Amino acid sequence: MMPERPRVALYYASHDGQTRKIVDRLAGHLAAHGVDTFITDLSANPAPAIDTEADLVLLAAAIRYGFHLPAARRFLSRLRVEIPDERIAVVSVNLTARKPGRQTADGNVYLRNWLKRTDLRPLFAAAVAGKLDYPAYRWFDRMMIQAIMTISGGPTDPSTVIEYTDWAAVEALAEELAMLVKPTP
Ligand SMILES: Cc1cc2nc3c(=O)[nH]c(=O)nc-3n(C[C@H](O)[C@H](O)[C@H](O)COP(=O)(O)O)c2cc1C
Repeated sequence: MMPERPRVALYYASHDGQTRKIVDRLAGHLAAHGVDTFITDLSANPAPAIDTEADLVLLAAAIRYGFHLPAARRFLSRLRVEIPDERIAVVSVNLTARKPGRQTADGNVYLRNWLKRTDLRPLFAAAVAGKLDYPAYRWFDRMMIQAIMTISGGPTDPSTVIEYTDWAAVEALAEELAMLVKPTP
């Protein structure tokens, strides 16, 4: 009999689409590594059934104004009841992760605080840089992000659109995840 393929269930909360793009890319790379995936958009389906049989459940969430999107935070509280921390992975998408050293649970303030606040000890945690898209933002949001960028030394020109996501790093994350769920030969 063929051994069953490992499975990663990916749940995500995205406001402007970049987290969705990252999750799609992760799923593509995982499939290439022989891992089955199953993707759920928490904005479309805020209280989905949790895939308790998955080898790993990954939650990816975008940051807005210092916090992961509420749909992701709510989902995490449900997730923890059904899945042990050792089978949970979290990916935080934010603009702070564009800077060197800010892609880890220790180095990324949002991820670090999230894990601390929830006392979550996931098997895997990483931060991935998102996208800056001033023209797409409403006036208030644009002003706020410009203020944040002034403080953090980023671009403030309102016509700026930059995808900071490091796709090679996303591929490397998928590889790490695949290693975690693949049975050792
Ligand atoms: C209104 C708004 C607030 C944001 N707040 C933060 C923030 O506090 N810290 C940060 O690092 N990035 C912040 N970002 C950047 C987003 O995390 C980034 O654009 C990410 O790609 C969004 O993911 P999404 O497209 O999946 O919604 C903010 C973006 C917007 C539009």
